Amino acid sequence: MSEVQFKKQPKGFATKAIHAGQEPEQWSGNPVIPPITMSTTFKQYDLDNHKGFVYGRSGNPTRNMLEKCLAALDDGKYCLTFASGLGATTTIVSLLNAGDHLVVTDDLYGGTSRFLRTVANRMNIEAEFVDATDAQVVAKAIKPNTKMVWLETPTNPSMKVVDIEAICKLVHKTPGIIVVVDNTFLSPYFQRPLELGADVVMYSVTKYLNGHSDVIMGAAITSDDNIHQRLRYLQNSMGIVPSPFDCFQVNRSLKTLALRMEQHHKSSLKVAQHLEKSPYVVKVLHPGLPSHPQHKLALRQCYGHSGIMSFYIKGGLEEAKTFFKNLKVFTLAESLGGYESLAELPSIMTHASVPEEQRKKLGISDSLIRLSVGLENVEDLIEDLDQALKASAAK
Ligand SMILES: Cc1ncc(COP(=O)(O)O)c(C=O)c1O
Repeated sequence: MSEVQFKKQPKGFATKAIHAGQEPEQWSGNPVIPPITMSTTFKQYDLDNHKGFVYGRSGNPTRNMLEKCLAALDDGKYCLTFASGLGATTTIVSLLNAGDHLVVTDDLYGGTSRFLRTVANRMNIEAEFVDATDAQVVAKAIKPNTKMVWLETPTNPSMKVVDIEAICKLVHKTPGIIVVVDNTFLSPYFQRPLELGADVVMYSVTKYLNGHSDVIMGAAITSDDNIHQRLRYLQNSMGIVPSPFDCFQVNRSLKTLALRMEQHHKSSLKVAQHLEKSPYVVKVLHPGLPSHPQHKLALRQCYGHSGIMSFYIKGGLEEAKTFFKNLKVFTLAESLGGYESLAELPSIMTHASVPEEQRKKLGISDSLIRLSVGLENVEDLIEDLDQALKASAAK
């Protein structure tokens, strides 16, 4: 199997993940592993004199420490965390006012699409869904009242890669438009949108950043002082904050992010290369494959690829059902980014809320299967997929 040459990772990522924001001196007694501060309120010395914390919604020491570490991983100045990825999304979109227009990738997480179509639109925020694989299409969609461009790349579940740098250059010709990138699929280890010109990076921390499928959390990272201040105000005013315990868990998970991502990259590429040769598979969607339409862009833009990939099986819903029923190592479940391998059918599961016509346009059919390739032995994963595909074809 050939090794694929993505952008070279600069030194220092794993060191930052382990040490940024973690100084023992910030805690009483210098603990090397940070404590969980559960208190919801903090003693004040006088009416205008306190040690930086007043009330747990507006700031918590465990959360602050995690936010410092996450900001460092994206080479950003600031990070704010939220009770879920969608909590981060709703807070970021709340930077907009009624009457504002937002341009968004047409192929994106179903929950983001649902929020924009059924909630944000009731607040008179108009979202326009475009094929962002062509930067000119995004630029052409900009109107006088456009205030935000929302990108997700690679897209979900079609794995299309969007040129962040080209879009930022075009969009930023008009001052005042905020470019947000949902970077959930790659994590800061494999893609750092701020260095490509984006204003805000958004995460479902639930996925790779936590990596153990036991925390729901979101994050927004920026280096822009004004955007940060407005987001911080919204974080406190809207109140969608994570628990200190969850912050501790995620902070702990970050310590192995680089190692986990390296293995996700290697295993998903092996699975993709193997499935591409399978007689039971029609097409494999993985940016690391030369057959991928934006393969060269992915190599230029990213430091590697995660465990997310999709493929079309021969047949339709019945064959897909038989495939899932026969899986032994992969689990049929929504979500992604954990150490365990998952498989799902976007048309009926994660993307069921996307209108049928849009699903058709994006190729989200009943034969499109999405995998989150985990950290098990890759030979076991390949064997599992092979036997389940064989069973589905025998149906
Ligand atoms: C790409 C992407 N963005 C955002 C979200 C929403 O995150 P959460 O489930 O943490 O609210 C998800 C969840 O699946 C996702 O996959």
